[in-house]
Amino acid sequence: MKQQLSPRSILSVSDLTGFELFEIIERATELKPQIKSHHTISTLYGQVIGLLFEKPSTRTRASFETATRRLLGEPVYLSSSELQTSRGERPEDTARILGSYFDAIVARVHSHKTLEDLARFGGVPIINALSDLEHPTQAISDLFTIFETKGRMRGLRLAFIGDGNNVCNSLLLSSALIGMNMTVACPEGYEPKAEVLDKATMLAKETGSSIEVVSEPKEATEGSDVIYTDVWVSMGEEDERNKRIKDFAAYRVDRELLSCAKPNALVMHCLPAHRGEEITEEVISGVNSVVWQQAENKLYGAGAVLEFLLARDILEEKIAPLL
Ligand code: CP
Ligand code: NVA
Repeated sequence: MKQQLSPRSILSVSDLTGFELFEIIERATELKPQIKSHHTISTLYGQVIGLLFEKPSTRTRASFETATRRLLGEPVYLSSSELQTSRGERPEDTARILGSYFDAIVARVHSHKTLEDLARFGGVPIINALSDLEHPTQAISDLFTIFETKGRMRGLRLAFIGDGNNVCNSLLLSSALIGMNMTVACPEGYEPKAEVLDKATMLAKETGSSIEVVSEPKEATEGSDVIYTDVWVSMGEEDERNKRIKDFAAYRVDRELLSCAKPNALVMHCLPAHRGEEITEEVISGVNSVVWQQAENKLYGAGAVLEFLLARDILEEKIAPLL
């Protein structure tokens, strides 16, 4: 019997090579004006995409759902609270069934292991729409925003201020893959996972970039091209809220911290933002902030990711006659 190869999935941003990451960013760049002008793009025609969400989402769900429709595919949203998994059905059984209905599954999960089960038993591409470990599609569209605004990524310096969380992990790996330097400033005990740091450091060696973790926000921000922050209390960490608010008090992105970065530095935040906690109103609404552009770009990033996994052959056919 012919052995079936597992289809490509994106559970971690490091499931891509630096070249592939750049290919997705370039495609997002092409898709943006086409989608904005309602140009007909049919790359996902006939494909049904399952969107399985165990946690709330405004941007990621809406951008994947809209991207699927804009590329003429069909999205089907499933809230985990309405699935039989909420009454004890095994994740691998759910994965087998959903994989037999959908052409790909975009999933936001509590535990990264659920994504691995989906990928192992689903038989279709799985896209991580946020787990406890990573948020790869966020990092992909964020790199697109940096590329769109600065015209390059390689050699830039990104300072991440705050929690070494899922968003930070994916930014570390994608910065390393693309050759961007990244410094994380976080309180002791909130560093990114050692396995992610090791992998990012290894990838950074290949692209000649640097990955650092420091405790002083100003040290990370000094001379940076991008200053990025995320919430201090991620989804599922609500019980730790009081402790976290105290522990992160010195890690707020405010006017003083921003003044350490280059004058034209970009201020980025994946959103949702908690003004007065990780970022001030003045900075998020200031001239350096690109957060709304960044959120809009999730739509084109989502489209490019879906096409990368489901329609690469169509894109190659379209491009080939032009070569
Ligand atoms: N940035 C982001 O992932 O936002 P949502 O939680 O609204 O999807
Ligand atoms: N770190 C945040 C990101 C939200 C998009 C969380 O996991 O809640």
